[in-house]
Amino acid sequence: MATTLLEIEDLSVRLPQDQAARPILDAVSLRVAPGESVGLVGESGSGKSVTCRSVLGLLPGQAAATGRVLLDGDDVLSLPGARLRALRRKRVAMIFQDPRASINPVRRIGDFVTEGLRAGGLPYKQALERAVELLEAVGIRDPRAAVRRYPHEFSGGMLQRVMIAGALACEPDLLLADEPTTALDVTTQAEVISILARLRAARGMGMLFVTHDLELAAAICDRIYVMYAGRIVEAQDTGELFARPRHPYTSGLLAATPRLESDQPPHGIAGRPLSLAEAPAGCAFAARCPRAIERCADGTPPLEPVDRAQVACWRAQEAVHE
Ligand SMILES: Nc1ncnc2c1ncn2[C@@H]1O[C@H](COP(=O)(O)OP(=O)(O)OP(=O)(O)O)[C@@H](O)[C@H]1O
Ligand code: SF4
Ligand SMILES: [Mg+2]
Repeated sequence: MATTLLEIEDLSVRLPQDQAARPILDAVSLRVAPGESVGLVGESGSGKSVTCRSVLGLLPGQAAATGRVLLDGDDVLSLPGARLRALRRKRVAMIFQDPRASINPVRRIGDFVTEGLRAGGLPYKQALERAVELLEAVGIRDPRAAVRRYPHEFSGGMLQRVMIAGALACEPDLLLADEPTTALDVTTQAEVISILARLRAARGMGMLFVTHDLELAAAICDRIYVMYAGRIVEAQDTGELFARPRHPYTSGLLAATPRLESDQPPHGIAGRPLSLAEAPAGCAFAARCPRAIERCADGTPPLEPVDRAQVACWRAQEAVHE
């Protein structure tokens, strides 16, 4: 088995709210091997961002977490502040959904891209040279002029390329990409994804790629975890997930995805997604599931191996023999 770069084990997170603790993640486990590209897919509110941010120790204030978030064997949840900051600077980088909301508008692009390098001790001039190379690598025209510009002078797509350059500056082992292209138009989205895929492969970085778009995850990920209401409900290699989805929620997501090769119109999953706090006892997907039977209300189905997949569904074994 490949050594693991990131290993989240049984991560549960609760928020205190009006005395009663509100759960947002329940027993989430996932792995990313060095150089592997892994997708985390689910509808809004399913817990993708909280999972992703836990890797940087950035859980919501007052959240109580149990389980482990191991990065190269160190548990992020119990690291002292100084080591956590060093880890954020050197080993892990994150790209956020909305580049404009996550970059300081009054600082020059060059200052942003060189920040981690300078904090790591590289002299300003060398850091700036490195920033110019990085901006060129992500397709920014005239990078020497770009380092002197401000964020408002760039389009959303160009700014997301700048964010990627900033994330890659310290050559992290792991890149966390939290819906990095959701705010972009489709053409720009495709360009940014191809830059990300190329640079990730060239540098051998591991990546956790968060999206609500299964098709997009398939374009860039070797393996995919599907999340529903704060839990992982299915994990498979990308090709197998598309060929044989094992969880009814994954099947629903696939049916909701428009396909060029199909003459069937896409149809969405009936009902609305739930957060874990709203989920009933039993399987959280039951109210929307076309395969639900009485037994599904009997407790939360655990994530268990089914052939080469992992699936959390009481009927997953049955489906194999159908
Ligand atoms: N800082 C916070 N304070 C309170 N609740 C939060 C906070 N962050 C997340 N939550 C709650 O945790 C749950 C999971 O949120 P999360 O942001 O991880 O979802 P998501 O899958 O990333 O959704 P989206 O696709 O909309 O980004 C939601 O119910 C959300 O309301
Ligand atoms: S456990 Fe039941 S309700 Fe849940 S996904 Fe499986 S069949 Fe559907
Ligand atoms: Mg999110």
